[in-house]
Amino acid sequence: MAPSGTAAGAVREDRLWQRHVDMAKLGGTPKGGVNRQALSAEDVAARNQLMAWARARGFSIFADAIGNLFVRREGTDAGTLPVMSGSHMDSQPTGGRFDGMYGVLAAFEALEALEDAGIRTKRPVLAVAWTNEEGSRFQPGAMGSAVFAGHNRLDEMLLVKDWKGVVLGDALAETLKAAPSPLREGQPGFALDGYVEAHIEQGPRLEHERTTIGVVTAIQGSRRYIVDIAGEEAHAGTTPRAARKDAYHAATRIASAMYAATTDADDTLRFTIGRVDVLPGSPNTVPGRATFTIDMRHPSDAVLETHEAKLRAIVGDTAAPCAATIERVTAVPPTVFDPDVVDLVRSTARTLGLTNMDMPSGAGHDAMHIARLCPTGMIFVPCERGISHNEIENATPADLAAGARVLVEVLTALANR
Ligand code: GLV
Ligand code: MN
Ligand code: MN
Repeated sequence: MAPSGTAAGAVREDRLWQRHVDMAKLGGTPKGGVNRQALSAEDVAARNQLMAWARARGFSIFADAIGNLFVRREGTDAGTLPVMSGSHMDSQPTGGRFDGMYGVLAAFEALEALEDAGIRTKRPVLAVAWTNEEGSRFQPGAMGSAVFAGHNRLDEMLLVKDWKGVVLGDALAETLKAAPSPLREGQPGFALDGYVEAHIEQGPRLEHERTTIGVVTAIQGSRRYIVDIAGEEAHAGTTPRAARKDAYHAATRIASAMYAATTDADDTLRFTIGRVDVLPGSPNTVPGRATFTIDMRHPSDAVLETHEAKLRAIVGDTAAPCAATIERVTAVPPTVFDPDVVDLVRSTARTLGLTNMDMPSGAGHDAMHIARLCPTGMIFVPCERGISHNEIENATPADLAAGARVLVEVLTALANR
Protein backbone atom coordinates (compact mmCIF):
# COMPACT_ATOMS: atom_id res chain seq x y z
CA MET A 1 0.00 0.00 0.00
CA ALA A 2 1.34 3.44 -0.92
CA PRO A 3 1.71 5.97 1.92
CA SER A 4 -1.09 8.53 2.32
CA GLY A 5 -0.26 12.04 1.20
CA THR A 6 1.49 10.68 -1.88
CA ALA A 7 -0.02 10.62 -5.35
CA ALA A 8 0.05 6.80 -5.34
CA GLY A 9 -1.67 6.81 -1.95
CA ALA A 10 -4.51 8.88 -3.41
CA VAL A 11 -5.28 6.35 -6.18
CA ARG A 12 -8.70 4.89 -5.39
CA GLU A 13 -9.21 1.31 -6.51
CA ASP A 14 -13.00 1.51 -6.08
CA ARG A 15 -13.29 4.67 -8.17
CA LEU A 16 -11.08 3.33 -10.96
CA TRP A 17 -13.05 0.05 -11.04
CA GLN A 18 -16.42 1.83 -11.06
CA ARG A 19 -15.30 3.96 -13.99
CA HIS A 20 -14.54 0.75 -15.92
CA VAL A 21 -17.99 -0.58 -15.01
CA ASP A 22 -19.64 2.65 -16.19
CA MET A 23 -17.69 2.75 -19.44
CA ALA A 24 -18.43 -0.93 -20.12
CA LYS A 25 -22.12 -0.05 -20.37
CA LEU A 26 -21.37 2.05 -23.47
CA GLY A 27 -21.46 -0.50 -26.27
CA GLY A 28 -21.78 -3.35 -23.76
CA THR A 29 -22.26 -6.86 -25.21
CA PRO A 30 -24.05 -9.89 -23.74
CA LYS A 31 -20.81 -11.67 -22.76
CA GLY A 32 -19.61 -8.66 -20.75
CA GLY A 33 -17.39 -7.06 -23.37
CA VAL A 34 -17.89 -4.03 -25.59
CA ASN A 35 -18.47 -3.24 -29.25
CA ARG A 36 -17.43 0.41 -29.32
CA GLN A 37 -15.75 0.85 -32.67
CA ALA A 38 -14.05 4.08 -33.61
CA LEU A 39 -16.28 7.10 -34.31
CA SER A 40 -19.48 5.13 -33.64
CA ALA A 41 -22.37 6.31 -31.46
CA GLU A 42 -20.86 4.23 -28.62
CA ASP A 43 -17.51 5.99 -29.05
CA VAL A 44 -19.34 9.33 -28.83
CA ALA A 45 -21.01 8.18 -25.62
CA ALA A 46 -17.63 7.25 -24.09
CA ARG A 47 -16.17 10.63 -25.07
CA ASN A 48 -19.11 12.43 -23.50
CA GLN A 49 -18.73 10.38 -20.33
CA LEU A 50 -15.01 11.18 -20.04
CA MET A 51 -15.68 14.88 -20.66
CA ALA A 52 -18.41 14.93 -18.00
CA TRP A 53 -16.01 13.44 -15.44
CA ALA A 54 -13.28 15.88 -16.46
CA ARG A 55 -15.58 18.89 -16.18
CA ALA A 56 -16.75 17.74 -12.76
CA ARG A 57 -13.11 17.86 -11.61
CA GLY A 58 -12.45 21.26 -13.15
CA PHE A 59 -9.94 19.99 -15.73
CA SER A 60 -9.89 21.63 -19.15
CA ILE A 61 -10.79 19.62 -22.25
CA PHE A 62 -9.96 19.96 -25.92
CA ALA A 63 -9.97 17.84 -29.06
CA ASP A 64 -7.76 18.05 -32.14
CA ALA A 65 -8.67 17.73 -35.79
CA ILE A 66 -8.40 13.91 -35.83
CA GLY A 67 -10.61 13.73 -32.74
CA ASN A 68 -7.96 12.95 -30.13
CA LEU A 69 -9.50 14.05 -26.84
CA PHE A 70 -7.30 15.70 -24.20
CA VAL A 71 -7.94 16.40 -20.51
CA ARG A 72 -5.48 18.86 -18.95
CA ARG A 73 -4.45 19.55 -15.37
CA GLU A 74 -2.34 22.69 -15.17
CA GLY A 75 1.19 22.79 -13.80
CA THR A 76 2.78 25.55 -11.78
CA ASP A 77 5.25 26.62 -14.47
CA ALA A 78 3.30 28.01 -17.43
CA GLY A 79 6.21 27.88 -19.85
CA THR A 80 6.91 24.14 -19.58
CA LEU A 81 5.99 21.35 -21.98
CA PRO A 82 3.37 18.90 -20.67
CA VAL A 83 3.69 15.23 -19.88
CA MET A 84 0.90 12.98 -21.08
CA SER A 85 -0.67 9.59 -20.50
CA GLY A 86 -3.57 7.75 -22.06
CA SER A 87 -4.65 5.15 -24.57
CA HIS A 88 -7.86 4.54 -26.54
CA MET A 89 -11.58 4.11 -25.90
CA ASP A 90 -12.51 2.42 -29.20
CA SER A 91 -12.74 -1.37 -29.23
CA GLN A 92 -12.68 -4.40 -31.47
CA PRO A 93 -16.12 -5.60 -32.69
CA THR A 94 -15.94 -8.29 -29.98
CA GLY A 95 -13.73 -6.31 -27.65
CA GLY A 96 -13.06 -6.41 -23.94
CA ARG A 97 -13.74 -3.67 -21.42
CA PHE A 98 -10.08 -3.06 -20.51
CA ASP A 99 -8.14 -2.91 -23.81
CA GLY A 100 -7.34 0.78 -24.20
CA MET A 101 -9.98 1.95 -21.76
CA TYR A 102 -7.71 1.02 -18.85
CA GLY A 103 -4.98 3.35 -20.11
CA VAL A 104 -7.42 6.24 -20.44
CA LEU A 105 -9.01 5.65 -17.04
CA ALA A 106 -5.65 5.08 -15.32
CA ALA A 107 -4.45 8.41 -16.75
CA PHE A 108 -7.62 10.10 -15.56
CA GLU A 109 -7.25 8.43 -12.15
CA ALA A 110 -3.71 9.86 -12.02
CA LEU A 111 -5.08 13.37 -12.58
CA GLU A 112 -7.72 12.84 -9.92
CA ALA A 113 -5.18 11.39 -7.46
CA LEU A 114 -2.90 14.42 -7.93
CA GLU A 115 -5.89 16.66 -7.34
CA ASP A 116 -7.03 14.75 -4.25
CA ALA A 117 -3.53 14.67 -2.77
CA GLY A 118 -3.18 18.42 -3.42
CA ILE A 119 0.05 17.84 -5.33
CA ARG A 120 1.11 20.55 -7.76
CA THR A 121 3.43 19.52 -10.56
CA LYS A 122 5.74 21.85 -12.43
CA ARG A 123 4.53 20.72 -15.84
CA PRO A 124 0.92 20.27 -16.95
CA VAL A 125 -0.25 16.64 -16.93
CA LEU A 126 -2.60 15.55 -19.71
CA ALA A 127 -4.79 12.49 -20.13
CA VAL A 128 -5.58 11.54 -23.72
CA ALA A 129 -8.03 9.26 -25.51
CA TRP A 130 -6.51 8.65 -28.95
CA THR A 131 -8.86 8.21 -31.92
CA ASN A 132 -9.19 4.82 -33.64
CA GLU A 133 -6.41 2.76 -32.10
CA GLU A 134 -7.96 -0.57 -33.02
CA GLY A 135 -8.12 -0.07 -36.77
CA SER A 136 -10.88 -2.65 -37.04
CA ARG A 137 -13.35 -0.24 -38.64
CA PHE A 138 -11.03 2.31 -40.28
CA GLN A 139 -7.47 1.38 -41.24
CA PRO A 140 -4.77 2.00 -40.20
CA GLY A 141 -5.02 1.50 -36.46
CA ALA A 142 -3.35 3.81 -33.93
CA MET A 143 -4.50 6.51 -36.32
CA GLY A 144 -4.98 9.38 -33.87
CA SER A 145 -1.53 9.00 -32.38
CA ALA A 146 -0.01 8.40 -35.84
CA VAL A 147 -1.41 11.69 -37.12
CA PHE A 148 -0.40 13.45 -33.89
CA ALA A 149 3.16 12.20 -34.34
CA GLY A 150 3.31 12.97 -38.08
CA HIS A 151 3.49 9.29 -39.11
CA ASN A 152 0.29 9.63 -41.18
CA ARG A 153 -1.17 12.72 -42.86
CA LEU A 154 -4.41 14.20 -41.55
CA ASP A 155 -5.80 14.94 -45.03
CA GLU A 156 -5.19 11.34 -46.16
CA MET A 157 -6.74 9.83 -43.04
CA LEU A 158 -9.88 11.96 -43.42
CA LEU A 159 -10.50 10.22 -46.77
CA VAL A 160 -10.23 6.66 -45.44
CA LYS A 161 -13.42 4.59 -45.76
CA ASP A 162 -14.75 1.90 -43.43
CA TRP A 163 -15.92 -1.49 -44.73
CA LYS A 164 -19.35 -0.05 -45.54
CA GLY A 165 -17.94 2.93 -47.43
CA VAL A 166 -18.45 5.54 -44.69
CA VAL A 167 -15.78 8.25 -45.06
CA LEU A 168 -13.79 8.86 -41.89
CA GLY A 169 -14.00 12.64 -42.23
CA ASP A 170 -17.81 12.43 -42.16
CA ALA A 171 -17.89 10.08 -39.15
CA LEU A 172 -15.39 12.32 -37.37
CA ALA A 173 -17.47 15.45 -38.03
CA GLU A 174 -20.49 13.68 -36.52
CA THR A 175 -18.40 12.56 -33.54
CA LEU A 176 -17.02 16.03 -32.84
CA LYS A 177 -20.50 17.54 -33.25
CA ALA A 178 -21.97 15.07 -30.77
CA ALA A 179 -19.10 15.61 -28.37
CA PRO A 180 -18.63 19.36 -28.53
CA SER A 181 -15.38 20.70 -27.22
CA PRO A 182 -12.94 23.39 -28.30
CA LEU A 183 -11.47 22.10 -31.55
CA ARG A 184 -7.89 22.89 -32.44
CA GLU A 185 -7.62 23.82 -36.07
CA GLY A 186 -5.00 22.45 -38.44
CA GLN A 187 -2.57 19.60 -38.11
CA PRO A 188 -2.75 17.78 -34.77
CA GLY A 189 0.38 17.49 -32.69
CA PHE A 190 2.11 19.54 -30.06
CA ALA A 191 5.36 19.20 -28.19
CA LEU A 192 5.49 16.90 -25.19
CA ASP A 193 8.15 16.33 -22.54
CA GLY A 194 7.17 12.72 -21.86
CA TYR A 195 4.49 10.09 -22.45
CA VAL A 196 3.58 6.97 -20.45
CA GLU A 197 0.80 4.56 -21.40
CA ALA A 198 -0.78 2.00 -19.10
CA HIS A 199 -2.39 -1.06 -20.68
CA ILE A 200 -3.42 -4.61 -19.85
CA GLU A 201 -0.76 -7.01 -21.07
CA GLN A 202 -3.05 -8.86 -23.51
CA GLY A 203 -0.84 -11.91 -23.13
CA PRO A 204 -0.27 -14.55 -20.41
CA ARG A 205 3.23 -13.81 -19.10
CA LEU A 206 2.52 -11.60 -16.07
CA GLU A 207 -0.19 -13.90 -14.78
CA HIS A 208 1.99 -16.94 -15.38
CA GLU A 209 4.92 -15.34 -13.52
CA ARG A 210 2.60 -14.05 -10.75
CA THR A 211 3.91 -10.56 -11.41
CA THR A 212 1.87 -7.35 -11.10
CA ILE A 213 3.76 -4.84 -13.25
CA GLY A 214 5.17 -5.31 -16.73
CA VAL A 215 7.96 -2.82 -17.42
CA VAL A 216 7.57 -2.49 -21.17
CA THR A 217 10.84 -2.15 -23.03
CA ALA A 218 9.75 -2.32 -26.69
CA ILE A 219 6.95 -2.98 -29.19
CA GLN A 220 7.44 -5.31 -32.15
CA GLY A 221 7.09 -3.95 -35.69
CA SER A 222 3.83 -4.47 -37.54
CA ARG A 223 2.55 -4.30 -41.09
CA ARG A 224 -0.94 -4.62 -42.55
CA TYR A 225 -1.99 -5.47 -46.09
CA ILE A 226 -5.11 -5.97 -48.18
CA VAL A 227 -5.10 -8.70 -50.82
CA ASP A 228 -7.66 -8.13 -53.56
CA ILE A 229 -8.53 -10.94 -55.97
CA ALA A 230 -10.56 -10.42 -59.12
CA GLY A 231 -12.24 -13.45 -60.73
CA GLU A 232 -15.45 -13.79 -62.67
CA GLU A 233 -18.98 -14.53 -61.48
CA ALA A 234 -20.45 -17.71 -62.96
CA HIS A 235 -23.29 -20.14 -62.38
CA ALA A 236 -22.43 -22.57 -59.57
CA GLY A 237 -24.41 -25.42 -61.13
CA THR A 238 -23.29 -25.28 -64.71
CA THR A 239 -19.76 -23.91 -64.91
CA PRO A 240 -17.02 -26.59 -65.16
CA ARG A 241 -13.91 -26.20 -62.95
CA ALA A 242 -11.67 -25.45 -65.91
CA ALA A 243 -13.86 -22.54 -67.00
CA ARG A 244 -14.02 -20.87 -63.59
CA LYS A 245 -12.19 -17.84 -62.29
CA ASP A 246 -13.17 -18.45 -58.68
CA ALA A 247 -11.86 -15.56 -56.58
CA TYR A 248 -12.41 -17.33 -53.27
CA HIS A 249 -10.68 -20.50 -54.46
CA ALA A 250 -7.69 -18.34 -55.45
CA ALA A 251 -7.84 -16.66 -52.03
CA THR A 252 -7.59 -20.03 -50.28
CA ARG A 253 -4.58 -21.05 -52.38
CA ILE A 254 -2.86 -17.72 -51.69
CA ALA A 255 -3.69 -17.87 -47.98
CA SER A 256 -2.43 -21.47 -47.61
CA ALA A 257 0.86 -20.59 -49.27
CA MET A 258 1.19 -17.53 -47.04
CA TYR A 259 0.57 -19.49 -43.82
CA ALA A 260 3.29 -21.92 -44.88
CA ALA A 261 5.74 -19.14 -45.78
CA THR A 262 5.27 -17.33 -42.46
CA THR A 263 5.67 -20.31 -40.13
CA ASP A 264 9.00 -19.90 -38.29
CA ALA A 265 10.73 -22.43 -36.08
CA ASP A 266 10.59 -20.38 -32.86
CA ASP A 267 7.05 -19.00 -33.45
CA THR A 268 8.12 -15.36 -33.33
CA LEU A 269 6.57 -14.14 -36.56
CA ARG A 270 2.87 -13.32 -36.18
CA PHE A 271 0.69 -13.74 -39.27
CA THR A 272 -3.08 -13.26 -39.17
CA ILE A 273 -5.82 -13.16 -41.78
CA GLY A 274 -8.58 -11.51 -39.77
CA ARG A 275 -11.10 -10.44 -42.36
CA VAL A 276 -12.27 -12.08 -45.58
CA ASP A 277 -14.92 -10.63 -47.88
CA VAL A 278 -16.34 -12.69 -50.72
CA LEU A 279 -18.55 -11.15 -53.40
CA PRO A 280 -21.27 -11.25 -54.49
CA GLY A 281 -21.81 -13.47 -51.45
CA SER A 282 -24.37 -15.78 -53.01
CA PRO A 283 -24.32 -19.57 -52.40
CA ASN A 284 -24.93 -20.41 -56.05
CA THR A 285 -22.66 -17.89 -57.78
CA VAL A 286 -18.95 -18.55 -58.24
CA PRO A 287 -17.33 -15.61 -56.37
CA GLY A 288 -16.11 -12.86 -58.68
CA ARG A 289 -14.15 -11.04 -56.02
CA ALA A 290 -12.44 -11.82 -52.74
CA THR A 291 -10.44 -9.60 -50.44
CA PHE A 292 -8.63 -10.38 -47.23
CA THR A 293 -6.55 -8.53 -44.67
CA ILE A 294 -3.11 -9.53 -43.40
CA ASP A 295 -1.64 -8.45 -40.05
CA MET A 296 2.04 -9.43 -39.74
CA ARG A 297 4.37 -8.62 -36.82
CA HIS A 298 7.94 -9.30 -35.74
CA PRO A 299 10.54 -7.58 -33.54
CA SER A 300 12.86 -7.19 -36.56
CA ASP A 301 11.97 -4.90 -39.45
CA ALA A 302 14.37 -6.85 -41.69
CA VAL A 303 12.39 -10.05 -41.07
CA LEU A 304 9.16 -8.21 -41.91
CA GLU A 305 10.77 -6.93 -45.10
CA THR A 306 11.88 -10.42 -46.14
CA HIS A 307 8.44 -11.86 -45.50
CA GLU A 308 6.70 -9.02 -47.30
CA ALA A 309 8.68 -9.97 -50.40
CA LYS A 310 7.51 -13.60 -49.95
CA LEU A 311 3.87 -12.52 -49.65
CA ARG A 312 4.15 -10.41 -52.81
CA ALA A 313 5.69 -13.33 -54.72
CA ILE A 314 2.92 -15.68 -53.58
CA VAL A 315 0.22 -13.27 -54.78
CA GLY A 316 1.96 -13.00 -58.15
CA ASP A 317 2.54 -16.75 -58.52
CA THR A 318 -0.65 -18.26 -57.13
CA ALA A 319 -3.60 -16.15 -58.28
CA ALA A 320 -4.07 -17.48 -61.84
CA PRO A 321 -6.55 -17.74 -63.49
CA CYS A 322 -7.64 -14.78 -61.34
CA ALA A 323 -5.80 -11.47 -61.04
CA ALA A 324 -4.65 -10.34 -57.60
CA THR A 325 -2.95 -7.39 -55.94
CA ILE A 326 -1.46 -6.88 -52.49
CA GLU A 327 -1.46 -3.38 -50.99
CA ARG A 328 0.45 -2.41 -47.86
CA VAL A 329 -1.90 -0.38 -45.66
CA THR A 330 0.51 0.42 -42.88
CA ALA A 331 4.01 -0.25 -41.61
CA VAL A 332 5.18 0.66 -38.13
CA PRO A 333 8.82 -0.18 -37.37
CA PRO A 334 9.75 -1.77 -34.02
CA THR A 335 9.81 0.66 -31.09
CA VAL A 336 12.40 0.73 -28.32
CA PHE A 337 11.25 2.76 -25.32
CA ASP A 338 13.33 5.46 -23.68
CA PRO A 339 15.78 3.85 -21.20
CA ASP A 340 15.25 6.57 -18.58
CA VAL A 341 11.46 6.17 -18.65
CA VAL A 342 11.81 2.37 -18.57
CA ASP A 343 14.14 2.69 -15.55
CA LEU A 344 11.69 5.04 -13.86
CA VAL A 345 8.78 2.61 -14.33
CA ARG A 346 10.91 -0.24 -12.93
CA SER A 347 12.24 1.72 -9.93
CA THR A 348 8.78 3.10 -9.14
CA ALA A 349 7.26 -0.39 -9.13
CA ARG A 350 10.06 -1.51 -6.78
CA THR A 351 9.58 1.48 -4.47
CA LEU A 352 5.88 0.69 -4.27
CA GLY A 353 6.73 -2.91 -3.38
CA LEU A 354 5.18 -4.32 -6.55
CA THR A 355 6.54 -7.41 -8.30
CA ASN A 356 7.71 -6.46 -11.78
CA MET A 357 9.46 -7.79 -14.87
CA ASP A 358 10.81 -6.30 -18.07
CA MET A 359 8.98 -7.38 -21.20
CA PRO A 360 8.43 -6.37 -24.83
CA SER A 361 4.91 -5.84 -26.15
CA GLY A 362 3.47 -8.14 -28.79
CA ALA A 363 0.50 -5.83 -29.31
CA GLY A 364 0.66 -2.40 -30.87
CA HIS A 365 -0.10 0.72 -28.83
CA ASP A 366 -0.37 4.46 -29.39
CA ALA A 367 2.89 4.77 -27.45
CA MET A 368 4.76 3.39 -30.50
CA HIS A 369 4.04 6.59 -32.40
CA ILE A 370 4.48 9.00 -29.48
CA ALA A 371 7.88 7.40 -28.77
CA ARG A 372 9.12 9.15 -31.93
CA LEU A 373 8.18 12.52 -30.38
CA CYS A 374 9.36 12.39 -26.78
CA PRO A 375 10.74 10.05 -24.08
CA THR A 376 8.09 7.35 -23.77
CA GLY A 377 7.37 4.20 -21.80
CA MET A 378 4.57 1.80 -20.92
CA ILE A 379 3.21 -0.04 -17.90
CA PHE A 380 1.47 -3.41 -18.25
CA VAL A 381 -0.83 -5.10 -15.73
CA PRO A 382 -1.99 -8.73 -15.95
CA CYS A 383 -5.20 -9.83 -17.62
CA GLU A 384 -6.95 -13.13 -17.01
CA ARG A 385 -5.36 -15.99 -18.99
CA GLY A 386 -3.87 -13.38 -21.30
CA ILE A 387 -7.15 -13.21 -23.21
CA SER A 388 -7.79 -10.00 -25.16
CA HIS A 389 -9.63 -8.90 -28.32
CA ASN A 390 -12.38 -11.00 -26.81
CA GLU A 391 -15.52 -10.05 -24.88
CA ILE A 392 -14.46 -12.13 -21.88
CA GLU A 393 -11.22 -10.15 -21.35
CA ASN A 394 -10.81 -9.59 -17.59
CA ALA A 395 -8.51 -7.97 -15.03
CA THR A 396 -8.64 -7.47 -11.26
CA PRO A 397 -9.42 -4.15 -9.53
CA ALA A 398 -6.25 -4.56 -7.44
CA ASP A 399 -3.95 -4.99 -10.45
CA LEU A 400 -5.55 -2.06 -12.28
CA ALA A 401 -5.06 0.13 -9.22
CA ALA A 402 -1.45 -1.04 -8.81
CA GLY A 403 -0.69 0.01 -12.40
CA ALA A 404 -2.35 3.38 -11.79
CA ARG A 405 -0.18 3.89 -8.68
CA VAL A 406 2.96 3.29 -10.69
CA LEU A 407 1.62 5.54 -13.42
CA VAL A 408 0.85 8.52 -11.20
CA GLU A 409 4.24 8.37 -9.50
CA VAL A 410 6.04 8.13 -12.85
CA LEU A 411 4.01 11.04 -14.25
CA THR A 412 4.72 13.10 -11.14
CA ALA A 413 8.45 12.48 -11.48
CA LEU A 414 8.39 13.37 -15.18
CA ALA A 415 6.22 16.43 -14.57
CA ASN A 416 8.71 17.78 -12.03
CA ARG A 417 11.80 17.27 -14.19
C1 GLV B 1 -3.92 -3.36 -31.14
O1 GLV B 1 -5.06 -3.67 -30.82
C2 GLV B 1 -3.14 -4.23 -31.95
O2 GLV B 1 -3.68 -4.77 -32.92
O3 GLV B 1 -1.99 -4.49 -31.61
MN1 MN C 1 -5.21 -1.40 -26.90
MN1 MN D 1 -6.75 -3.76 -29.12
